[in-house]
Amino acid sequence: MVAQKQDKILIVGAGCFGISTAYHLLARGFTDVTVIDRSDILPAPDAASTDLNKVVRTSYSDPYYTQLARDAIAAWKDEEMWGDTYHESGVLVVGSRDETPYASKGYENDAAIGARIIDLPTTDAIRSVFPAGVKLGGFNEVSAYLNKDGGWAFAAQGVARMTAKVVEMGGRVEAGVNVTGLARKDGKTVGVVCRDGKTIDADVVVAAAGSWTASTFAELELGDRCLSTGQSIATIQLTPDEGARYREVPIILDFSSGFYMFPPNQDNIVKMAIHETGFTSYIVNTDGGKGISTPRTVTSHGSDGLLIPQSRAKMLRTKLGAVYPELAEKPFSGTRMCWYTDSPDGDWVIGYYPSDAGLVLATSGSGHAYKFLPVIGSVVADTIDGTLDPALVSKFAVNRESVKIDLSRAPAARQDLAGEVFCTPGDLLP
Ligand SMILES: Cc1cc2nc3c(=O)[nH]c(=O)nc-3n(C[C@H](O)[C@H](O)[C@H](O)COP(=O)(O)OP(=O)(O)OC[C@H]3O[C@@H](n4cnc5c(N)ncnc54)[C@H](O)[C@@H]3O)c2cc1C
Ligand SMILES: *[C@@H]1O[C@H](CO)[C@@H](O)[C@H](O)[C@H]1NC(C)=O
Repeated sequence: MVAQKQDKILIVGAGCFGISTAYHLLARGFTDVTVIDRSDILPAPDAASTDLNKVVRTSYSDPYYTQLARDAIAAWKDEEMWGDTYHESGVLVVGSRDETPYASKGYENDAAIGARIIDLPTTDAIRSVFPAGVKLGGFNEVSAYLNKDGGWAFAAQGVARMTAKVVEMGGRVEAGVNVTGLARKDGKTVGVVCRDGKTIDADVVVAAAGSWTASTFAELELGDRCLSTGQSIATIQLTPDEGARYREVPIILDFSSGFYMFPPNQDNIVKMAIHETGFTSYIVNTDGGKGISTPRTVTSHGSDGLLIPQSRAKMLRTKLGAVYPELAEKPFSGTRMCWYTDSPDGDWVIGYYPSDAGLVLATSGSGHAYKFLPVIGSVVADTIDGTLDPALVSKFAVNRESVKIDLSRAPAARQDLAGEVFCTPGDLLP
């Protein structure tokens, strides 16, 4: 299945996958590229890609992602394109010496690509990479390494800049267009149907609706390959003085607990989260079926969509206290549920839908796609024009049999938000 350069390409979703795909199609000479998004404001306030910051790391157990992240970092350094979006703070990877297989493989892969890494085998060595004014807890009986070739990206700004570039290159980006399903003829996708009843025709539809993909395209039954899971994040507002003292800390990424945390951003806000199983949010079908897990966000639920479970606020504060005890004495200034789109093996879903030359899926970021914003669209564009390496076609195929299972993404049991108590303002206090 191969699209031609003059074909009409319609991309549903202006997040990381969608906007990067538009950019790379235009860059290689596609002439009719449109991106539509349900949100009236772009980047969409509740998109996974719209955030204060995201970790940019090459430390992956799979060398494919290590190399692709290396390529992405090289691209992030183009300041004409990205301005100050990328901050090379370094990434402190905790758990590197066999304690956590993912981290130790990450170390090997980082070393193999020649990343600037510093082995930190002892507690004292780990503490030595932090600025003098920062009070530290923890780091007992763990090893770590610092990868200086990594850091974080001001996520919302990255998407906004790439969107502006797409428009400059002749792409169309339309906000406030809410897709409710596919238009199909003789088994082939020929466009999409919108909530207002309108149909938009296309030669190829690219479904890149993030954690709304499974619920938007319910007829594809993608629920277990593009599973929407809610993750809890919290922020703390530092004073200018605290901001100055913590400014030069690296990203902390603890692969044994999943806890990760950023240096202060330009507004002296620090963000933390746990890369974990997360919560489904099943909307029960009228026929009694369990339905499709669907994000609960500020757009669908107003400010309630920002609330995280009480249990997660407690967990975040405990993990924070083990790293920065002083900051754990401060109130959380904000929380947010942010929605991953998970595949069982943690690999993306990028490919033509089986026996449908009119439909390409580009999703299932599985909690780690943002860092690839500059380059991920070239993988999707290779898919669309039929030039993707066959090994990658299989790796990302919609209907692949998962050979490995990523237990962090497909656990034996996963909690549903329905069983949780959400935070009250009191739960944000220390
Ligand atoms: C808490 C959290 C932390 C993360 N941390 C990191 C990290 O540190 N590093 C990293 O690399 N990655 C990280 N990720 C993962 C990364 O954010 C995602 O993999 C990536 O942003 C997914 O992009 P996307 O384009 O699939 O989805 P999104 O960015 O959500 O975009 C989907 C778009 O589709 C639109 N849409 C949805 N439904 C419709 C519809 N029916 N019609 C029209 N438009 C529609 C939405 O409005 C949205 O704009 C994190 C994710 C979360 C939630
Ligand atoms: C998009 O349409 C769906 C299905 O009708 C609806 O539930 C949702 O609220 C709409 N979203 C927006 C942002 O308009």
